[in-house]
Amino acid sequence: MQKTFALIKPDAVAAGNTGAIISRIEKEGFTIAGMRKMKITRAQAEAFYGVHKARPFFGELVSFITSGPVVALALEKADAISAWRDLMGATNPAQAAEGTLRKEFGTSIGTNATHGSDAAETAQFELALFFPEIG
Ligand code: RTP
Ligand code: MG
Repeated sequence: MQKTFALIKPDAVAAGNTGAIISRIEKEGFTIAGMRKMKITRAQAEAFYGVHKARPFFGELVSFITSGPVVALALEKADAISAWRDLMGATNPAQAAEGTLRKEFGTSIGTNATHGSDAAETAQFELALFFPEIG
């Protein structure tokens, strides 16, 4: 079993898609090891998106992710990191495959409904940031 970190981003929470996304997570066989609805602080967002600091859209990323409540999730499954990335689909919803969460719930490359850790080290870092009690 592997754990990954996921977020239901402010756009999807505001649009009332939390329940549909959680339902899909359970249907796809993930175990929810941790779940918290919260508002991410600026300091947390800057740490979370630290790898993107040099990107031109860093400021937008931080503003968006702190713009409203999110649902933070620790998900568990065999190969959870890649399984969750597959379920989310491509970063840009316009390029996301049929049946993926970003295709169904994303509306732009920025407002793309969900986040998922992209590697074992980032999963560990992100889980520690949001779920220090889980590890
Ligand atoms: P995420 O981290 O949210 O799971 O998404 P990702 O791995 O698929 O994409 P990543 O490269 O890590 O980018 C993080 C978030 O930045 C936004 N983005 N905007 N304007 C742009 O060209 C651009 N490129 C990326 C997206 O919202 C992406 O989720
Ligand atoms: Mg990423």
